[in-house]
Amino acid sequence: MKIAVFVSGRGSNLQAILESGYTKDIVEVKAVVSEKIDCAAFQVAGIYSIPTFTLSNKPGGKSYSEIISLFREMEIELIVLAGFLKLIPKEFIKSFQNKIINIHPALLPSYGGAGMYGMNVHRAVFNSGDRFSGATVHIVNETFDTGRIIAQEKIDISQAKSPEEIAERVLVIEHKLLPFVLNKFANGKVEITDSQIKIL
Ligand code: GAR
Repeated sequence: MKIAVFVSGRGSNLQAILESGYTKDIVEVKAVVSEKIDCAAFQVAGIYSIPTFTLSNKPGGKSYSEIISLFREMEIELIVLAGFLKLIPKEFIKSFQNKIINIHPALLPSYGGAGMYGMNVHRAVFNSGDRFSGATVHIVNETFDTGRIIAQEKIDISQAKSPEEIAERVLVIEHKLLPFVLNKFANGKVEITDSQIKIL
């Protein structure tokens, strides 16, 4: 399965996709895209000689419509947001209906929405005193973190001493859950109908 990965940060989830036993040999990362000219995740892409693209209207950058054409040429089958922090425009979502997924570092529908990313999420979870947190993989729609849920994994954080500790433990879950879901997509084992999403 040919995929593109959108990133904004360090790229540990991108790295997990590239190195996990779930995705090795069956998932091919053809492009890495960011809204930044350079981010740490581009270095991960570089190690694997994966082409990188910057979403920008500055010289050298690409527009969303150029990315759509490029992905059609590359025959991209799924787009994965792995730490990508910008809202995806409607036109782009329409072009890849049910073909864009995101990983979120909490148990959606809780702790999602604008501004809820990275450590902001883990601080909110820590301050809430919730007993569980985890990771969610969902379909991307026009608003932040409200698309239909594909898979979740939760962990008991009742003994966590800090937001940083929660972040560290949730990241371990993310690095398994995202490659697992990609494996299911690659094997045609994600059934998306109007009423439900089922992993077979
Ligand atoms: C991950 O924890 C991801 O779930 C989160 O950003 C981090 C990126 O880390 N995404 C969001 O918060 C999106 N709302 P990475 O660059 O090391 O993969």
